[in-house]
Amino acid sequence: MKAICWMGVNQVSVEDVPEPEILSSRDAIVRVTASSVCGSDLHLIDGYLPGMREGDVLGHEFTGEVVEVGSDVRKVRPGDRVVVGSFVGCGGCHYCQEELWSLCDNTNPQPLLQEKLWGHAIGGVYGYTHATGGFPGSHAELIRVPFADNNAFPVPDGLSDEQVVFASDALPTGWMGAEMCNLWPGSVVAVWGCGAVGQAAIRAAYLLGAERVIAIDRLPERLTMTARHTGAQTLNYEEADVLEALREATGGRGPDACIEAVGMEAHSTGLQHAYDRTKQALRLHTERGATLRQAILACRKGGTVSIIGVFGGYLDKMPIGAAMNKALTFRMGQQHGQRYIPMLLDRIARGEIDLRYLATHSLPLEDGPWGYEMFKHKQDGCVRAVFHPAA
Ligand SMILES: NC(=O)c1ccc[n+]([C@@H]2O[C@H](COP(=O)([O-])OP(=O)(O)OC[C@H]3O[C@@H](n4cnc5c(N)ncnc54)[C@H](O)[C@@H]3O)[C@@H](O)[C@H]2O)c1
Ligand SMILES: [Zn+2]
Ligand SMILES: [Zn+2]
Repeated sequence: MKAICWMGVNQVSVEDVPEPEILSSRDAIVRVTASSVCGSDLHLIDGYLPGMREGDVLGHEFTGEVVEVGSDVRKVRPGDRVVVGSFVGCGGCHYCQEELWSLCDNTNPQPLLQEKLWGHAIGGVYGYTHATGGFPGSHAELIRVPFADNNAFPVPDGLSDEQVVFASDALPTGWMGAEMCNLWPGSVVAVWGCGAVGQAAIRAAYLLGAERVIAIDRLPERLTMTARHTGAQTLNYEEADVLEALREATGGRGPDACIEAVGMEAHSTGLQHAYDRTKQALRLHTERGATLRQAILACRKGGTVSIIGVFGGYLDKMPIGAAMNKALTFRMGQQHGQRYIPMLLDRIARGEIDLRYLATHSLPLEDGPWGYEMFKHKQDGCVRAVFHPAA
């Protein structure tokens, strides 16, 4: 079958790969009908996360139709349309039982690298590195979904692929980012990054009670889109002093919560960017920290910094003194999708959440390399390129 594969740093192509098979009685095989690019793929393509191998199938944000199930699968049947979260959960370990699905203890068969780097390994992810299990991804005609009863969620009748595909990854991530802020009516939230994840976080923040959201990015088309579709105030960090603008917008107090939805490849201006880029290129640190530093400095005393942008290793020049002395709360993590997806699908069905506008480019699988090129370089207003392998 055809699939979009990682073939080396900055090399993506469509290749022939073997079809997946049922390997355990709890597996399902899903025919992928929509599969989106995600900012996390860029960290793989750009070579910042270790453990990729030539020929790995990319993609972890997807929806499709179940075509085959193992003998112990009970909740989904062939013919069901499902949304599958990006992390694989076993359902039985301590972490899955606590609904901390991305921390699953059983779904990463290759935990050594993470154990060395982080002390512990997290769960497996589709289309990600071999350090997270090396599960083949969803930019393919078919995908194997392990522990299908825990990981595949039926799509309510009448919803299209475009309506539900982001309920796999960007939306639960954004929801979790906002939920971690413990918002109350009247909260002011600042969000760094107006990609799909940042925009989903903004929608979630409003639904969870925020009174005002201020969204930060530099791409005019994303700022315009964000203002139009979410109602957030926007701030272009290349045109304004972000810290000053946030202070001014909050009567000197600072936002109650700051959501970081950019991650390790943050851009910034001037000396800081040159410093971060050089150190990252020389592998002296692995992350570029402009957004995290700003979030800490901007946040009001006693506020919350919620990190959903992906970081992988070490970062210096962290204002830990500001964080400690201002008594900030830090919340962060990879998304625990299984905890949110059914609730989010209900909200989509009720019309409370509609993220279809994020799918700026609908493409056949064959256009994978071009889709990634546009997404990486933010060309043609690309926010999400969504591939349709079964078309
Ligand atoms: N926690 C999770 O489970 C999870 C899930 C999905 C994605 N992610 C991560 O979320 C992040 C965003 O994903 P996405 O798909 O929206 O990516 P994206 O590349 O579409 O968007 C990132 C945005 O950040 C903006 N940006 C860069 N530097 C900035 C700065 N200094 N200030 C403000 N904005 C800045 C870019 O202009 C861009 O619009 C990525 O790091 C991705 O890996 C995490
Ligand atoms: Zn993702
Ligand atoms: Zn588990």
